[in-house]
Amino acid sequence: MKKVISFKLNGEDVEAEVEPHWSLLHLLRETFELTGAKEGCGKGECGACTVIVDGKAINSCLFPVMEVEGCEVTTIEGLATLNGNLHPIQESFVANGAVQCGFCTPGMIMSAKALLDENKNPSEDDIRTAIAGNLCRCTGYVQIIEAIKKASERREP
Ligand code: FES
Ligand code: FES
Repeated sequence: MKKVISFKLNGEDVEAEVEPHWSLLHLLRETFELTGAKEGCGKGECGACTVIVDGKAINSCLFPVMEVEGCEVTTIEGLATLNGNLHPIQESFVANGAVQCGFCTPGMIMSAKALLDENKNPSEDDIRTAIAGNLCRCTGYVQIIEAIKKASERREP
């Protein structure tokens, strides 16, 4: 039986009719047509579905939709400004060659954002830990780590 939930999505108050067994990823992609978060493995192993819920990077493929009630959810679509300016982390990924096929990229960037929101000056170890749950089959991670480091330096006053 469908239920109605309310939460904040990329800064806007929203309501949605959901089936209680849905994941947050299903809701984002099928109801809101926000397809930045990807379904890679569907079981918490690849990080392609990463979004931020109440400040924490989570695997939306495993996050039960009923737990979203009252939460603040940010997806990759919420990072660029309305006039199309990329977020500094997105710009840094582009500038540092951290994107190849792009499948992992939204999840990587959301993990990086959750890290940088909490820790403005992360060490390489901090960065590696933050993206430990995000798999990339293309870049070898070096450019991704570099991009996150450079983004953190840019965000310093
Ligand atoms: S699709 Fe969610 S962790 Fe792989
Ligand atoms: S850029 Fe292809 S999986 Fe990461």
